[in-house]
Amino acid sequence: MTDSTLELPPLYESLTWLTPLSEERAAHLVAFLTEPAPAEVLDMGCGWGELLLRVLTSAPQARGRGVDSASASIDRAKQQASARGLLDRATFDSIPGLEVQDRPADAVICIGASQIWGPPVEDAQPLDYAAALRALRDLVLPGGRLVYGEAIWSATPHPAATAPLSGRDDEFLTEDALREQIRAAGFEVVDQEQASIQEWDVFEAGYRARFTRWLEAHDAGHPAAAQVLRQYEELRAAYEEGYRGVLGMSYFCLKG
Ligand SMILES: C[S@@+](CC[C@H](N)C(=O)[O-])C[C@H]1O[C@@H](n2cnc3c(N)ncnc32)[C@H](O)[C@@H]1O
Repeated sequence: MTDSTLELPPLYESLTWLTPLSEERAAHLVAFLTEPAPAEVLDMGCGWGELLLRVLTSAPQARGRGVDSASASIDRAKQQASARGLLDRATFDSIPGLEVQDRPADAVICIGASQIWGPPVEDAQPLDYAAALRALRDLVLPGGRLVYGEAIWSATPHPAATAPLSGRDDEFLTEDALREQIRAAGFEVVDQEQASIQEWDVFEAGYRARFTRWLEAHDAGHPAAAQVLRQYEELRAAYEEGYRGVLGMSYFCLKG
């Protein structure tokens, strides 16, 4: 049995977001985007739409659009919008982000999705933050707000940390260097925060949980069991013995 035929439980069953983000920090980001209330909210690379749906719940007059290339995530976002009575104000589209030619919105979210405007992650190239920030600049109305979350180096990368990632030291910027790029793109930095190691631990454990859930649901003699166990262990080692404390995540609250 190969990876492509293996059906693991969906990530949304063990993660609230596809990023290291605590409830407290999420509430802070929602408050930044909703005080004052926006009219239009756009989430580029929205995953299953949890943050966008919370913004719409906090801003009952706002309309929102979430875009993600992963159709399973968009299906989940639509189902959650329906469950929360938000379908009349929320639309979700499963399309590549580059196809979005929206008029600018007064509140925009882009968390962990800069690759929309750069090389695909599989190409193992440095993340093109500048291209993402240029594109986002056009999607935010003058005076509008952007929550931009992206991976950074939070400590000097070393070989054990980079090996399970792209293998290169220049894949990410430091937080200071990213802040400079953000300013150069024309945004005002209102606030900036880094995910804590606890947020990372929760995220990584949640990411691996689909493997343990699969193992719990299947007989130890299942032909794929050894492979699932190996994949779990590779992920655990990559994090705990590799990039833990080195790969970081910054959340910037920005004004356009
Ligand atoms: C790290 S996840 C973050 C998801 C979400 N923003 C969150 O914080 O939970 C990155 C998301 O970007 C999406 N993505 C990657 N490339 C994309 C593209 N070219 N167009 C649209 N979405 C893309 C992925 O499917 C994934 O859901």
